[in-house]
Amino acid sequence: MNLETRYLGLTLKNPVVVGASPFCDNIDTARRLEEAGAAAIVMHSLFEEQIDLEQQALMHHLETPAESNYEATSYFPHYDDYHLTPGNYLRTIERLKSSLGIPVIASLNGRRPGGWVDYARRIESAGADALELNTYQLATDPSLSGEDVEGDILQIVRSVTETINIPVSVKLSPYHASLTHFAKLLDEHGAGGLVLFNRFYQPDFDIDQMDVVPRLKLSYSSELLLRLRWLSILSPTIRGSLACSGGVHTPEDFIKALLAGAHAVQLVSVLLESGPRAIPLLLDGLRGWMHDHEHEDLSTVRGALNLKRCPDPAAHERANYIKILQSWKI
Ligand SMILES: Cc1cc2nc3c(=O)[nH]c(=O)nc-3n(C[C@H](O)[C@H](O)[C@H](O)COP(=O)(O)O)c2cc1C
Repeated sequence: MNLETRYLGLTLKNPVVVGASPFCDNIDTARRLEEAGAAAIVMHSLFEEQIDLEQQALMHHLETPAESNYEATSYFPHYDDYHLTPGNYLRTIERLKSSLGIPVIASLNGRRPGGWVDYARRIESAGADALELNTYQLATDPSLSGEDVEGDILQIVRSVTETINIPVSVKLSPYHASLTHFAKLLDEHGAGGLVLFNRFYQPDFDIDQMDVVPRLKLSYSSELLLRLRWLSILSPTIRGSLACSGGVHTPEDFIKALLAGAHAVQLVSVLLESGPRAIPLLLDGLRGWMHDHEHEDLSTVRGALNLKRCPDPAAHERANYIKILQSWKI
């Protein structure tokens, strides 16, 4: 049975990719994930703020200007609080590349075009096989339009893809007025693939302390449905690769993501909960299902329920929304 897939121009032995997370900050953990069957890994993100801090620290050291805005971003983590400094990040890429046989995908995370984008060049030189760009952005400024936000993302993608030769994917938010149009623009700006979706960590209210508190909750399978819909819609039209990120916990989730059109399926929460043994469970589940449904090759599974190929395309569209709302009888 052939589980091979092409993702971002890379040939992967199967579609399991370890999603961006601290897993691969540690070489032994990364090796255990590879041994369990992971076909590629995405590293923890290196953040625009981190790179800016490093550059500011360097300037501070060189010039020590009285009006330095070194403190201006103090609500962000301090320099030492990030898992990896930019220098360590590059060294970790080199160490992962020399220890693993599977592709290593680096991750850069930023929201505005700027000098940090040049780091892509150093990531490529360190040996990364591909780069995932995470453009997590929360537009709290009312003067910023959707067009401004998307324009910034497109500019980041263009400057990175013009700078480096390794493939670049973009990890997207689901909140765009026309995701299909934006996906087309990303494709035209050089993105080799899309990762659906970024997961927004919602702060909660502490009503005793009267404060807003950060909460990191792992995902549930129910979060997969949003991914299934958009993978299905984009799968017939997008030229590049598609990765599913968010809500894959069981073999059924894994199979559904592939049927929707994912070339690769990224895992984080399930690995944090169950460890590397989750990977063979998902792969065995896929093999069993392919055997029962007489699929010898993953290429016949991928996208089999996407918008163009599913028996009832209206199920993905507005017609279904109307039908569902009309179906509830009291
Ligand atoms: C502890 C933790 C750290 C993460 N770090 C990053 C990161 O550095 N960059 C990024 O793009 N996503 C990061 N993510 C998000 C994951 O890559 C993934 O998109 C999200 O967890 C949804 O996938 P899941 O349902 O398999 O967990 C992180 C998630 C967790 C739980």
